[in-house]
Amino acid sequence: MTQSVLITRRIPELAMKKLKEQGINVIENSEDRPLSSRELHDLAQRSTGLITMLSDKIDKDFLAANSHLKVISNFAVGHNNIDSAFAKTLGIQVGNTPDVLTHATAELAMTLLLACARNLQSATQNVKSGQWNNWEPMGFLGMELYGKCAAIIGAGRIGQRMGEILNKGFGMNILYTAQSDKKDFEKSTQARRVELNEALQMADIVSVHCPLTENTRNLFNQKNFALMKKGSIFINTARGEIHDEKALHHFLTNGTLFAAGLDVTNPEPMSMNSELLKLPNCLVLPHIGSATVTARQEMALICARNIIQGLNGEKLECSVV
Ligand code: DGY
Repeated sequence: MTQSVLITRRIPELAMKKLKEQGINVIENSEDRPLSSRELHDLAQRSTGLITMLSDKIDKDFLAANSHLKVISNFAVGHNNIDSAFAKTLGIQVGNTPDVLTHATAELAMTLLLACARNLQSATQNVKSGQWNNWEPMGFLGMELYGKCAAIIGAGRIGQRMGEILNKGFGMNILYTAQSDKKDFEKSTQARRVELNEALQMADIVSVHCPLTENTRNLFNQKNFALMKKGSIFINTARGEIHDEKALHHFLTNGTLFAAGLDVTNPEPMSMNSELLKLPNCLVLPHIGSATVTARQEMALICARNIIQGLNGEKLECSVV
């Protein structure tokens, strides 16, 4: 059978080129919009491999109906959209794109943090709406980051990079949560591994970098937001399902949190009726953590290599299990 790979959205050309060089037939989504589950299913029926986006739901039903697939590579490091444990039982290999988006995503978390700390949303709105009348001695007073304490929730690659930027660039003390000690990270940043409660009680900045799992879903709920310091900042560039939107709104409006910066929401896209969009101290981005030219090109290349390896029956260079 000719090997056919479905790429569910438009991604950098490099991937198509690499696959075609191997004689692999590429099925592209010419409309560059998310495929409906019906379309995804129908196109997958004609494919032996898939390059999927984090918005594609690859659950048990989909996999059971497409058990002929040999390999799926997610165009993302997170893979909570794929039931990879079930895929494994069917002999379908699942890959992702770690490492190459570490800098891009940590830099975006940093961008959100700086923008929140210095009230960028209200300040740009002030200029655009013609309200900039004078230099304001008491206007837009933000939080100075230097020397503050930051909690990294989930010190994987991206969390560690964020911790390094905060420690080396802003002289911050770093606390982190993780399933195991990160000795190199501790050595380079003097970071200290603590329980979640302590991290939330001590930190001026809480930045979320953990994967979405059954343990982290809704981790930032009423109870845990209530532990955060008065005047602290909450940043989430991981997954929207990790924070509870209503609870976040409550603590942003009751004087506990100074601000929140979100690159991820639940659902995505965010509802235009979300109360968070009305707040001047909540900055929301449309999930652009890995959106740099370099990161997306490297992600495309990893996906292509994962697919080629999977179709050849080899172990994937970036396998999720
Ligand atoms: C990922 O790769 O999981 C990120 O969320 C993309 O920004």
